[in-house]
Parts: sequence; structure tokens; C-alpha cells
Amino acid sequence: MECTASRRLFNEVIVPNYSPSPIIPVRGAGSHLWDQEDKEYIDFAGGIAVNALGHCHPELVQALHKQSQKLWHLSNAWTNEPALKLAEQLTKATFAQQAYFSNSGAEANEAALKLARKYAKDHFDPEKTEIIAFDNSFHGRTLLTVSTGGQPKYCKGFEPLPGDITHLPYNDLASVEYHISNKTCAVIVEPIQGEGGVIPAEPLFLEGLRTLCTQHNALLIFDEIQTGMGRTGNLFAYQNYEVIPDILTSAKALGCGIPIGAMLTTKAIAESFTIGSHGSTYGGNPLVCAVASKAFELINDPVVLSGVKQRQRMFQSKLELFNQKIGLFSHIRTEGLLIGCELQKKWHGKAPALKQLAEQEGVMVLTAGPNILRLAPSLIIPPKDISQGLEHLTTAMLALKMDF
Ligand SMILES: Cc1ncc(COP(=O)(O)O)c(C=O)c1O
Repeated sequence: MECTASRRLFNEVIVPNYSPSPIIPVRGAGSHLWDQEDKEYIDFAGGIAVNALGHCHPELVQALHKQSQKLWHLSNAWTNEPALKLAEQLTKATFAQQAYFSNSGAEANEAALKLARKYAKDHFDPEKTEIIAFDNSFHGRTLLTVSTGGQPKYCKGFEPLPGDITHLPYNDLASVEYHISNKTCAVIVEPIQGEGGVIPAEPLFLEGLRTLCTQHNALLIFDEIQTGMGRTGNLFAYQNYEVIPDILTSAKALGCGIPIGAMLTTKAIAESFTIGSHGSTYGGNPLVCAVASKAFELINDPVVLSGVKQRQRMFQSKLELFNQKIGLFSHIRTEGLLIGCELQKKWHGKAPALKQLAEQEGVMVLTAGPNILRLAPSLIIPPKDISQGLEHLTTAMLALKMDF
């Protein structure tokens, strides 16, 4: 067995549920990454919408360093100052009054769905257990959240799946109207489907879900794990719509690279989590909360948030211009700095090949399924890095056209 870190070693020692790129990044700064050979890349992937402030932001490094010398972990038998500060920041800036901290997005959604079931049993009917979710959504990989996302490719082989989850077409209010009943305890929705291809909810759809949930005493859960923390140019995407959910989940950019998730809700709903009814050893530990609290302070800044919109316009106009010349994409959707470029039918299935070519040219990108190139760069990526990364991407687009 080889001892140096390589893709071959990965194959030897890591469970084969991922297929990472052959290159191994070893350091990052801002929107730049360097691999083992010191080759430089512009990062438009952002750790899948996590590195909202780029790599090794000096103020986050400082917050991590400072807290690492004070206190790392206590468990939930004691509270801690950074967790209380972060909960105050999140609740002051949103509709929510209380926060539950987890270690990941899936766990935040797991908590939200469990809370919705418990709330329905506490206040209404023991049989009020149905969860409505939407086709093509993604809510995580625990058994409950992967079943809620419902995509066969992620659920297959893990049966029996948790029951009483109904999947309906996204943006189809009539089907929810037809289906929802007093047995529904929750409707969970991504305001913009991220993994599903950067597909935004129509305002009337979310408004209709709000009305239907209220009518049927069901809780409306917004999964903002990918769309939250400034990604769309508002702190959370729900703030772009005139719709307030009952529960909101956040993760990814909440920690900017430190593993943390949060479930936010009102006091009246939170009361259904009584002492001992749910928990996590690490959730809300002082080390992660100190970093997340600093990240929150940096992101929840009007200059950063309006900068997201400026950068979005830059991506949109440049991508459209290149695409006019190259003609690879049928749609370019920019939702703040969550960007989905859908390949024309002729190029369907080629998103992974484009990602690979882009990497060879020196820009890291993501895909969302086989047909969509997805970008989720740092919210503060300098304009010159946008230009340079897009130049590399254009070369990759041309190479794709030549190759196939
Ligand atoms: C909308 C959404 N929900 C939940 C998750 C799961 O988050 P995690 O991977 O941190 O468990 C993701 C991750 O991609 C996501 O995009």
C-alpha cells in the first residue's frame, strides 16, 4: 500500500461511497486552492456552498485560534457562551425565537421533522404524521432525511424506509391542495432546489404552501441548508419571499467549513422538544459556535449581502456572453451566487466531463446531476477571480465541444 496521500490510497482506505477528483488540494486562501503539485485553481465550488467567506478567512482563523485556546467541548450537560451568542444572532435576524444546534444539515432536518411529528401529536392527533415533500428535493442522508428527499437513486437498497412521507411535484400547488389533509404534520421544501439543479420556487407556490399549512395545522419547514447564510443576497432565501416558515434549517455556510447545523423555530413549537426528547453530543459545542458566530457577523453585513447581487450580475452577464458564442447551455439560472447552467439536450450527461475539463483548466466547479453545471463560489470572491475563473471555464466549454 502506498503511504503518500493519493487517489490510489483513497481507494485503499476510504469506504467507496465517493469518487473524488484525482487531484488533492492541500491549501486554500480566499477563492484560490493549490494541489499537491502546487497547481493553482480558482474555486467556484465553495465546498458545495459551504465556504461562503472563501478559504482560511483571517477573521475566522483568528476566531478559531482564540476559542481553541479557551474551551473546545463540554457536551449538552453544560451550556456555553459561543452557542448562546450564535443563537441570539440567529434569532434576532430571523422570525425564529429559539435554535437547536446539530453537526450537519441532515441532522438539522432530522430534528425539524421529528419536532413536527411530536408537535402534531402533542397538539392534535396521534395519527397526524404525514410529511409532504417534493420530487427532486434533497434533505440529507440519514434514513429519515434521505426518505424525505425521496430520490430513488439515494434511497435504493436502504429499505424499509420510514413511512408516511408523500412526494408531490415541486411548484405544483394544485397537487398539494388536493393531497394535504388534517393528517399532514409538515410540509418540507427548499425555497430553491440546490442539488435538484438550482430551481427556484415560484412565489405563489410558497405563499400557497403557507396558507395550506395554516389551514391544516401542519408546520411549514424551509430547508435553507444550501440557500441560507447570504447565498441569495439576503441572509435567508425566505426573506426574498413574503412567506414565513414555522421551522427553518441551516448548515453549510453557517459554519463556513466548521461542521454545524441549526434548526430555528418559534418558542411555541420548540416546546414540543422537552428535556431529553432529542439531542446530540457535539451539537452547539463552543469551538464550532465561536467560528460560526464570527462567520454570521461577517456575512450578515449589508455590504457583503449587496455584494452577492453585484457578483451575481457579473456571473450572469459573462456566462450569457460566453454561452452566446459557444452555445452549450439552454438555461443559465443565477439565484444570488447559487448558479445552475443547464446543458442543451445534445450535451445531456456531460456535466461531469465539463467539471473535469474545468478542473484541468484551473477552475473548480460542481455539478447538480448529469445535465447541470453548478457554481457556489465564495460570497466575497473578488471580481478579478470571477473573470479569471470564467475564462478557464470558457476554455473547458470549448474543449467539451471539441471532444464530443
Ligand atoms: C438543501 C439541503 N438539505 C440538506 C443537505 C444535507 O446537509 P449535510 O450534507 O450537511 O447533512 C444538503 C446538502 O447538500 C442540502 O443541499
